[in-house]
Amino acid sequence: MNVRGCLAIVLAAGEGTRMRSAMPKVLHAIAGRSLLAHVLRAVAEAKVTAAAVVVGPHQQTVADEAERVLPGAQCFVQHERRGTAHAVLAARPALERKPDDILIVYGDTPLIRAETLSKLRAPLAAGAAVVVLGFRPADPAGYGRLVVEGGKLIAIREEADASESEKAIGLCNGGIMALAGAHALSILDRIGDDNRKREFYLTDAVEIARDLKLDAAVVEAEEDDVRGINTKAQLAEAEAVLQQRLRQAALEAGVTMIAPDTVFLAADTAFGKDVVIEPYVVFGEKVTVEDGAVIHAFSHLAGAHVGKKCSVGPFARLRPGTRLGEGARIGNFVETKEAAIAAGAKANHLSYIGDASVGANANIGAGTITCNYDGTAKHHTSIGQDAFIGSNTALVAPVEIGDGAYVGSGSVITGNVPADALALARARQVVKEKWATRLRSLKSLGKPKA
Ligand code: UD1
Ligand code: CA
Repeated sequence: MNVRGCLAIVLAAGEGTRMRSAMPKVLHAIAGRSLLAHVLRAVAEAKVTAAAVVVGPHQQTVADEAERVLPGAQCFVQHERRGTAHAVLAARPALERKPDDILIVYGDTPLIRAETLSKLRAPLAAGAAVVVLGFRPADPAGYGRLVVEGGKLIAIREEADASESEKAIGLCNGGIMALAGAHALSILDRIGDDNRKREFYLTDAVEIARDLKLDAAVVEAEEDDVRGINTKAQLAEAEAVLQQRLRQAALEAGVTMIAPDTVFLAADTAFGKDVVIEPYVVFGEKVTVEDGAVIHAFSHLAGAHVGKKCSVGPFARLRPGTRLGEGARIGNFVETKEAAIAAGAKANHLSYIGDASVGANANIGAGTITCNYDGTAKHHTSIGQDAFIGSNTALVAPVEIGDGAYVGSGSVITGNVPADALALARARQVVKEKWATRLRSLKSLGKPKA
């Protein structure tokens, strides 16, 4: 069987005016990943043979994101935003290579799945020239309506151009279309801008195909696969759908969540076996949690690796570059960043550990702070294994505490401490006997008589 080649074109040049944001729409994120990245990953997973991304004229940030997520994708600039068909034609050089199949995916439909994209290509192999992904949204407002007659798709009507009876149609355009490469350019070049918005609508491809005596087909998808994002409210809805999918997948993989609805995951959060997540935990991007770890309530993790049987929180914040060895414990109101905390080490209360390495089984007392920043540069703190840092210590980096060393509580440590030594760096305690008694009697002498 010969495998059909497929070019995917992702449209991402829209301004996203309805988002009311300075940032291009497709760079807004759900589950810690940009809308564009979600789409590009689905495209890559659908095993297309080539990918193109159409970006706007001043959208280098969008092109950069495409390059980061799918380095093989070719970027084309749509110099003026004149509609979705006009955007597709910005990728003309890729279309001219006449791939067997062409998938056109909007950059603002992030919940699309690879299997849905593959399903959409099937009718092309059977001879259709245009295949549209249809769905029946709970609220069709804003979507193009699919006009079907006698079981055949005859047109897509944009809401702005739809009659009252067309607006009553529940079957809508999901914003994903497959075109037969052999006919794509002759269809696209015939699309005009004779409509309310004076835009070149990709959706006109259906009527044009029919004029050319070519077949158009509809494949139906779930609403959750094709939710288009035009507004912040729709962004929040898509986030909710994706969170639900991610929680479900985590539960199926064996994670215990006491209140799954209160746990927020990133698309790439990875869990081992027998992980427990208490309520109200937020995961940013790039977190891995190994077997048997417990993440207690109200913790926030991003870019962190949590080793086997670790305990994190409640109320802990693990920032990027945190690596916890097996059985390490990070307790309440502890913040870590770029910190390698080895097996069995503990920081149980009220600490900041940044740009640091902490050796195995070291104990970091309550209130210990690594003073990593001098106002200009960041410096490293190294704490040896089995070291004991007394409570309320300030470790002024760069500084090294040797293996097994002790630091007395309340110290401000500005120099290295050798292994197994004791360092005390605090004002000596002064006691003045009866001082307070004398103060009180002086005060009572000075008091005016009642
Ligand atoms: C579009 C469809 C509508 C469908 C809906 C599904 C058209 C004309 N309408 O409407 O039938 O129900 O999506 O979500 O296709 N873009 C460009 N350049 C442009 C215009 C748009 O790259 O000149 C990109 C946008 O970045 C976006 C996508 O194309 O990713 C869709 O554009 P948008 O303006 O959101 O179309 P809708 O009005 O949502
Ligand atoms: Ca849209």
